[in-house]
Amino acid sequence: MSQSANPIGVGFDFGTTNSSIAIARPDGQVEMAQFAYSGGVTEAFRSLLYLEKLRERTRTTIRSWSGPTAIERYLEADEKGRLVQSLKSFLTSRTLVSTEVFGRQHTLESLISLIIRDVRKEAERQFEMPLRRVVVGRPVRFVGSDSDADDLFAQSRLETALQAGGFEEISFEFEPVGAAYHYESTLDHDELLLIGDFGGGTSDFSLIRVGEAVRKRGRSADDLLANDGVGIAGDSFDARIVRHLVSPALGDGTSIRSWDKVLPVPTWVYRKLERWHYLSLLRGKETLDMLQSVKAQAFEPDRIAALLHLIQNDLGYRLHQAVQQTKCALSLNDAARFQFEDGEAYIEASVTRAEFESWISEELAAIEGCVNRIVRSAGLQPNDVDRVFLTGGSSFVPAVRRIFERRFGAEKISNGNEFTSVARGLALRAASD
Ligand SMILES: Nc1ncnc2c1ncn2[C@@H]1O[C@H](COP(=O)(O)OP(=O)(O)OP(=O)(O)O)[C@@H](O)[C@H]1O
Ligand SMILES: [Mg+2]
Repeated sequence: MSQSANPIGVGFDFGTTNSSIAIARPDGQVEMAQFAYSGGVTEAFRSLLYLEKLRERTRTTIRSWSGPTAIERYLEADEKGRLVQSLKSFLTSRTLVSTEVFGRQHTLESLISLIIRDVRKEAERQFEMPLRRVVVGRPVRFVGSDSDADDLFAQSRLETALQAGGFEEISFEFEPVGAAYHYESTLDHDELLLIGDFGGGTSDFSLIRVGEAVRKRGRSADDLLANDGVGIAGDSFDARIVRHLVSPALGDGTSIRSWDKVLPVPTWVYRKLERWHYLSLLRGKETLDMLQSVKAQAFEPDRIAALLHLIQNDLGYRLHQAVQQTKCALSLNDAARFQFEDGEAYIEASVTRAEFESWISEELAAIEGCVNRIVRSAGLQPNDVDRVFLTGGSSFVPAVRRIFERRFGAEKISNGNEFTSVARGLALRAASD
């Protein structure tokens, strides 16, 4: 079966944390690709990559795994390879052209393409058709973008990765517009809709007129009133948990004695620890040597020993899991425990939701500023908005939801399909072309 003989729309959401892919059939039915792992199946394919060096008789090769199998392989391995995540957040970086893995340079695009290729192949196997034409989501503002030029640069790198991953005809759509197409498919009337999509890397907004009549008369450019976004979302919330809870337990803020002076422990290591994609880069000899000498001079050497243990054993993924667990528990409860234990690294603490909210207050203010801006830029008042649809994993954070409840009223807020709404809507958008 060829795709061109079949007006099926394909929507692909390459997310910072999770990716998903959907097809929309001519009758409007949407199907998500499902990805198997040892615990069952999931529609949210973790956007991470695990690389291992394999020594064959005459040469050394590098093998890669992505998604849920990457995690399983990584956890099983005695000698850990390289696990990388949140790669989408590097797309705007003009300094990160390539990274060294096992002595070989790999471009960012080629690493991302390995994830994309696996998603595409698995979806093709399930849907029993080649998927070459695709509508792909992009954030309104990529992480680290300061201008439209930065966004175009990031988008063109993503396009290169998509081509290398086997897609041939690629068009882009804003991720929140994708979510709007999904929401629209549930409507029997028209609405002026505000979408808020809160992911791992970015928070994205669109103000858009949707509904049956809009669809029937044909969508016009004027129906999309405004888009806006910020490169702040779940990963930034995690970074704050690391800063306030994890790093102090690993020696951040403590001192060393150097000759007759008392000096602070260098903070740059801890700032790197806050960003998941940097942790495995700390395993270099220079950093480890520096930390060994810090440990020898430290007032609290146990904490530095715990940090060294974490870096040497590449425990970033497990630490990330512990941080995420605490964050997710705080979406449900007023307080949660944080626990991490591995050899010399033992961290246990309790944290209240109020504390967490104070740690992320700057991020919440930036998100709030963006919401105010998008409504204002369309020349509207909050009252003019009929409905607010919140989606993406970070929309579970109660403080994020409150921003909208305060402005628009709780009764106007809907949510759902947090991890799949973008891909579903992109597929519908692709089918409507
Ligand atoms: N219950 C929860 N409470 C708080 N945060 C959550 C919850 N569930 C998931 N998250 C967070 O949601 C984020 C992932 O959401 P999602 O899959 O929508 O992002 P993404 O689409 O991969 O990223 P982006 O759209 O920014 O590229 C992660 O930061 C994760 O920790
Ligand atoms: Mg997303």
